[in-house]
Amino acid sequence: MLVDIVTIFPGFFASPLATGLLGKAGERGLVEVRLHDLRDWATDRHRSVDDAPFGGGAGMVMVPGPWFDALDELEAQGPARVVLLAPDGRRFDHKVAQRLAAEPRLILCCGRYEGIDERVRTRVDEVLSIGDFVLAGGETAALVVLEAVARLVPGVMGNADSATDESFAAGLLEYPQYTRPAVYRGLEVPAVLRSGDHGAVARWRRDQALDRTRRLRPDLLEQAEEDADGPQAPG
Ligand SMILES: C[S@@+](CC[C@H](N)C(=O)[O-])C[C@H]1O[C@@H](n2cnc3c(N)ncnc32)[C@H](O)[C@@H]1O
Repeated sequence: MLVDIVTIFPGFFASPLATGLLGKAGERGLVEVRLHDLRDWATDRHRSVDDAPFGGGAGMVMVPGPWFDALDELEAQGPARVVLLAPDGRRFDHKVAQRLAAEPRLILCCGRYEGIDERVRTRVDEVLSIGDFVLAGGETAALVVLEAVARLVPGVMGNADSATDESFAAGLLEYPQYTRPAVYRGLEVPAVLRSGDHGAVARWRRDQALDRTRRLRPDLLEQAEEDADGPQAPG
């Protein structure tokens, strides 16, 4: 997968792209990320990308010119799904991440200031929000989208089961996880997990996943009921 990120702060991504799963995905050529400074498409000597809003009001708005020119140039390089990060977008979730992970190429557009001139939306395929709050810029949101999508790209996760067992993948939250020691400060790991009985472990995990989802996120079960196949327990 190829991901182009358009931003006025390309340096923002340096550490996350060099670290952990994203770092390895880059090294192995599974997820190639190209960073583009929007100011490279500015036309004045100050490399400005913002101006005062028509109608007045606080702050500055990103002007359309550099965005249109950037997208002209990047889209001329081949087909891509263009995603704008904005608080009024569709809520980003696991299903959206799965859909985007199947795309060969994404262009993620990061706003700053009070946002981007509305006309730029004529050039994007979808608008995504990472939640009902306002960030200072789209970079953090793009990083959230990139990391969630990248780990679903085939080959990125060491163990393919990790992706299928995890929260949301099967319409349920994940079951509780434990590791050594078996007893820590008097807190014991459930005996069934140490029993060696794989069938019993799988049943316990399915029950725990269902119970946890019922308690913490009943909306996920309601959604799963609406889906034709219903929920499938992980594990
Ligand atoms: C300060 S925000 C602009 C907020 C805008 N004035 C509003 O009230 O909707 C600057 C940029 O951060 C990004 N951003 C902020 N919150 C976001 C969110 N919840 N999800 C995705 N992107 C967000 C967008 O790219 C936005 O253009």
